[in-house]
Amino acid sequence: MKEYDLIIIGGGPGGYKAAELAGHCGLKVALVEKGKLGGVCLNYGCIPLKGYLHVARLVNEVNELRNDNIFSDIDAFGINQTGVLERNQYVINNLQQGIKYKLQKAGVAIFVGNAKIAPEQGGQITVTVDNMCLSAKNLIIATGSKEIRFPVSEEKLSYRIIYSDELFSLTRIPTRMVIVGAGVIGLEAADYFNAAGCEVTVLESAPEIAGGMDPDIAALFRKILQRKGIRIHVNSTVKNFGGKELLVDMDGEDVHITTEAVLIAVGRTPVVEGYGLEKSDINYNQDGIFIDESCRTNKLNVFACGDVTGKFMLAHTAYEQARIAIDNIMGKEAYINYHLIPKVYYTSPEVITIGLSEKECVAGDIPYITRELPLTYSGKYFAEHKKDGAKAKMVIDSLSKTVIGFSMIGDGASEIALAVELMIANKLSIEDIGKLVFPHPTVGEIIHELAAMG
Ligand code: NAI
Repeated sequence: MKEYDLIIIGGGPGGYKAAELAGHCGLKVALVEKGKLGGVCLNYGCIPLKGYLHVARLVNEVNELRNDNIFSDIDAFGINQTGVLERNQYVINNLQQGIKYKLQKAGVAIFVGNAKIAPEQGGQITVTVDNMCLSAKNLIIATGSKEIRFPVSEEKLSYRIIYSDELFSLTRIPTRMVIVGAGVIGLEAADYFNAAGCEVTVLESAPEIAGGMDPDIAALFRKILQRKGIRIHVNSTVKNFGGKELLVDMDGEDVHITTEAVLIAVGRTPVVEGYGLEKSDINYNQDGIFIDESCRTNKLNVFACGDVTGKFMLAHTAYEQARIAIDNIMGKEAYINYHLIPKVYYTSPEVITIGLSEKECVAGDIPYITRELPLTYSGKYFAEHKKDGAKAKMVIDSLSKTVIGFSMIGDGASEIALAVELMIANKLSIEDIGKLVFPHPTVGEIIHELAAMG
């Protein structure tokens, strides 16, 4: 039996961040991962998608500038998918080495294999990894999530059904693709495949795309994506996966669609099976492991972080939950504030939201005002994206005059999110923001402009 202070199951963002932090706190840590270090985020999610979207952004920008007669001799150009995949793999390999290096530096023991929670022995947590037995005072479960799948048999279909992890092994861009679900994966994938020359149709069962975003911004987002040639149908979903065609319920009407591939991106579900959770006395259901604001489960020495908790399934949520869990293990009280977690679509244009929305203010009886401006108020943005029609919106507490929420659609938004988070977390008033010196010209100046509006 190998003894540790902390065992972590899962080597994705939640697990590796917790391991690194715990190691630097002087804890003896064992991290168990059955697949690849970095989890879905690095290997089949956020990072390779960002590789795709970087290419899409370049294509979009060249097309935009070409329409403005900026280039003298560019005719047709296309994406070389093999080159994109190779570039992605190079990035993944390097980042994986980076994680390994950081864990080694923190003194973390990495075990490759299937972890299973075994019955406790003498009050100690026990975890088996294949034939090995590990024990520890504390456990963090960070087993992540998996795609929600449709029960479709592909045998008789003339098109391919794909899920997000398979997006990064597609060696050829399909001529036509239907994407089911206009959430973050669906829309980011739509942006790339559209830029790569594929005819993309997105079906969303809700009345608007990008659920969770400010409704005005989401509507504008839909229009901008449609202007780029992406076909988007809200109140729509697949009724039947037939042989040669898809039968789609398009806002109440039956429509047959011919396609080469169907990407299902209707959400993810926590991984709560396959590692002995059901035999433990840790509370959970299919929506995730129950944790409190200190990321602790119903058991004092068992914590969970990342997608397995079912809360704001984002890599940066996992990082923050990991930090909170380690602080608590180290005896420092710490609590997570989900309200400060930014949500980002890395499409062109990017879309962000952080803090309270108008809807949440109404629900929470918080007095508020909103201010909004087109991004053309930023000279830099206008120079770069003349025709975009993007905008930013600020939610302000009408009594304290502090910024409590912010949404924006426009490139550069993802880098601005942190500045807004600092403002909201530190309860800066619009007067405080007015006194900050923003570099000119920058896209972030839109915050200054919003604060200065009378
Ligand atoms: P999601 O929850 O963001 O979106 C799923 C969408 O599918 C929703 O709009 C929903 O209304 C729709 N939908 C559900 N059932 C449907 C049906 N039968 N027909 C048509 N539409 C249907 O889930 P998504 O996009 O799969 O992403 C999964 C997770 O991955 C998310 O939790 C996300 O946070 C994470 N992720 C985040 C990224 C980022 O932060 N940029 C990038 C990639 C993944």
